[in-house]
Amino acid sequence: ATRRRPVIAIDGPAGAGKSTMAAHLARRFGFLNLETGAMYRALALKAIDADIDFTDESALMELAEQTRIGLEPQREGNRVFLDGVDVSRRVRDTDVTSAASRISVHPRVRAWMVDLQRVMGKQGGVVMEGRDIGTVVFPDAEVKIFLDAAPEVRGGRRYLQVGPSVAAKPEEAIIKELKERDERDRNRAESPLRAAPDAVTLDSTELTLDEVLSRAEAIVREHVPEP
Ligand code: DC
Repeated sequence: ATRRRPVIAIDGPAGAGKSTMAAHLARRFGFLNLETGAMYRALALKAIDADIDFTDESALMELAEQTRIGLEPQREGNRVFLDGVDVSRRVRDTDVTSAASRISVHPRVRAWMVDLQRVMGKQGGVVMEGRDIGTVVFPDAEVKIFLDAAPEVRGGRRYLQVGPSVAAKPEEAIIKELKERDERDRNRAESPLRAAPDAVTLDSTELTLDEVLSRAEAIVREHVPEP
């Protein structure tokens, strides 16, 4: 069998800048960027619309079995399709964000997502971004980056991203939500957020965006001579 092209795995907490990094590396090396968080968000949205209890794993699985989720890589981030409908905007809303974190604790939901993600990435040439890519989805990824930053910095960046003038919530509220989600992502029993033993950890707290991106590029080149 022909060897697949490299897989670049980017994991880390919410708001660390994973999507920006994934989009940048994908452009730089001619890879596809895939945001796995958007898949959890899409299923969460369907659960909200179907009025399904986020703690009911069987009901969520029944729903998943009747669901098609598609990612369409773009220059900046992914477009997300739920049963053929573009839900890219809707899945960023706070209710979906919180629901995604809640439904992602279930082992069978995760297994369903992981199967799909392995199919999407099986030929390589992808930058896949999420919480468990280097640990579970592609433990044999050629490059693993764990991107971290202090919660206050992540919350502050998210606040600026949304735009202080349109942000419905004060910055403290955003930071609080982010911390709650982190807590859930890090402490769930099934595939909790953590760095793979062979991941390179990059803490962006004190770095500019340019510094983060050039370090990420250097990490890729160290591991893959000809990306
Ligand atoms: O990356 P994001 O913020 O779009 O992810 C939304 C939620 O989905 C996040 O709180 C945890 C979950 N998630 C996950 O459990 N595993 C992944 N690989 C990606 C996301």
